[in-house]
Amino acid sequence: MKKVLILGGTGDAVKLAAKLVTIPKIEVISSLAGRTKKPAALVGQVRIGGFGGAEGLANYLQQNSIDILIDATHPCAGQITHNGAIASHLANIPHLMLVRPQWECVTGDQWIEVESVEAAAKAIPELVNRVFITSGRQQLEPFLQRSQVYPNTWYLMRSIDPPDIELPNSKILLDRGPFSLEQERQLLRDYQIQAIVSKNSGGDATYAKIIAARELGIPIVMVQRPAMPEGEKVTSIEEAIAWLRQL
Ligand SMILES: NC(=O)c1ccc[n+]([C@@H]2O[C@H](COP(=O)([O-])OP(=O)(O)OC[C@H]3O[C@@H](n4cnc5c(N)ncnc54)[C@H](OP(=O)(O)O)[C@@H]3O)[C@@H](O)[C@H]2O)c1
Repeated sequence: MKKVLILGGTGDAVKLAAKLVTIPKIEVISSLAGRTKKPAALVGQVRIGGFGGAEGLANYLQQNSIDILIDATHPCAGQITHNGAIASHLANIPHLMLVRPQWECVTGDQWIEVESVEAAAKAIPELVNRVFITSGRQQLEPFLQRSQVYPNTWYLMRSIDPPDIELPNSKILLDRGPFSLEQERQLLRDYQIQAIVSKNSGGDATYAKIIAARELGIPIVMVQRPAMPEGEKVTSIEEAIAWLRQL
């Protein structure tokens, strides 16, 4: 029997767990940070909450006799990914990062590429008055600061759970992807959105807004992914399973 710990918090991690539980002699534990009140249903065992840094994760791996670590966290969750790389090294176990390919800027896209959500808030063009924020409810502070400088900007903010910070002059949409192209077109038109803030998440579930923005000529302030640690990486669930089988 091999024990696999999946660092999750993404749709890919949910799908990977569902596949792995069907493979004989594999026991699957999924780990969630605990940010979402009602996480998507997961097959297999689940543990919730931080480990206490890389060392805490290494201790968890050793104390629970984990044989293999698969990091299937969001590509923008840089801290846990670095912790996973260090912890697997400390615990001396195989480690894989499942990283979906990033979105590429194609003809018709108007991207303003930035390195952080803070930079994104500063990069929203001055004349834009209606902004759609899709970069997460946990990083709203930079927009709060922007709203003090540009009080006339109205924000539409979409997230799974309500944010802790209340942005003045804003509306919250509580929703979980995937979102269809028709849905996104309609939303951008209905709310007369003039700019979008997005992370370069990659994948299909939230790509429709990128297409809709392209069609409607709406600029996107695109937050780039943080640097990834060295180590073995695959881009799909199928490749992750093949990697596991060859072990
Ligand atoms: N960042 C995003 O844009 C984004 C988008 C969608 C989903 N998510 C998911 O939300 C979670 C948190 O993201 P984040 O950006 O806040 O992460 P982060 O900045 O990389 O991690 C911060 C801390 O949260 C804990 N943590 C993160 N992921 C964990 C997991 N899967 N299991 C147990 N502890 C975890 C760790 O705490 P300790 O140091 O105490 O172990 C980590 O040091 C991740 O699971 C990620 O996949 C993130």
